[in-house]
Amino acid sequence: ADEPLVLGIETSCDETGIGIVRGTTLLADAVASSVDEHARFGGVVPEVASRAHLEAMVPTVHRALKTAGVTMADIDAIAVTSGPGLAGALLVGVAAAKGYAMALDKPVYGVNHLAAHVCVDQLEHGRLPEPCMALLVSGGHSSLLMVPDVTSDVRPLGSTIDDAAGEAFDKVARVLGLGFPGGPVIDRKAREGDPDAIAFPRGLTGPRDAAYDFSFSGLKTAVARWVEGRARDGQPVPVADVAASFQEAVVDVLTRKAIRACRENGVEHLLLGGGVAANSRLRAMAAERCAAAGISLRVPRPGLCTDNGAMVAALGAEMVNRNRRPSLLDIPADSSMPV
Ligand code: KG4
Ligand code: ZN
Repeated sequence: ADEPLVLGIETSCDETGIGIVRGTTLLADAVASSVDEHARFGGVVPEVASRAHLEAMVPTVHRALKTAGVTMADIDAIAVTSGPGLAGALLVGVAAAKGYAMALDKPVYGVNHLAAHVCVDQLEHGRLPEPCMALLVSGGHSSLLMVPDVTSDVRPLGSTIDDAAGEAFDKVARVLGLGFPGGPVIDRKAREGDPDAIAFPRGLTGPRDAAYDFSFSGLKTAVARWVEGRARDGQPVPVADVAASFQEAVVDVLTRKAIRACRENGVEHLLLGGGVAANSRLRAMAAERCAAAGISLRVPRPGLCTDNGAMVAALGAEMVNRNRRPSLLDIPADSSMPV
């Protein structure tokens, strides 16, 4: 057991995630989510999220320790998401991490949430191949990242210029009356629908458009207009066909740009992460297109794709492994932290 035992704390959005890893071995991944408290608002309410983190923190830490069969005294280092995310939510995690680190006299690492989404795959598929390309798609971000070194060198190539991919799923689900969060239910509905039923627009795929940026707001509006048009004509809305056609448009653009980024930058490995990477159609199309392009694809299981503490612990352990300098107790909660 020479590998470091690291406890990771994630509170950037609505999940209080506590992960415990030894090196690249996952020992515990406890999550308390406040998603149900936000459902009636149709989106995450920052103040509600912060309060929920505060209440869930200590019980979730205890649950993770119990699952891992270790005590706080066994922990070698603490890692915590320092940004980006909701400022108040981040503060709760950062304050807890500093408290534990001080009480235990152990090093603490403030880490980047996006880099953690990339590093988590080590817990499932072994050492991260570097450089790799990462497509991170969630309710808060849609980014293409080039990753020469996950602990110190993560380069953003492109991101969304308006809505995040997951946000588009959530908004379209609302238009279809399917509830929140929208991704999982659209994924399910789409299985009964025809992805070619309606030709929805593919944003930013013209020859003069930014090669690695995304835009989903036009697509969301196109879906809303199409549904309104049906209602105006007194026609029923074919929910499964709309869901499938919308999902196809999102997934087509995401995979096309990710593979293009790999090709143009000479990168042979693509990694998917973020809540939308749980999408079954995205996984299938990425697998197909990567195979055709000779690119290896790594996708963590859905439970590791959404926000969790294990990803933060995984990156913390990698920081220890690569002898990165720990943070001081002045870790910020940086809501707009770049990678
Ligand atoms: O990573 P995550 O748990 O939280 C952040 O936003 O950081 O991602 C949540 C997002 C939501 O927008 C949700 O609708 C979407 O991921 N999502 C999905 C699926 N599961 C979750 N989107 C498409 N298909 C899914 N199966
Ligand atoms: Zn995330």
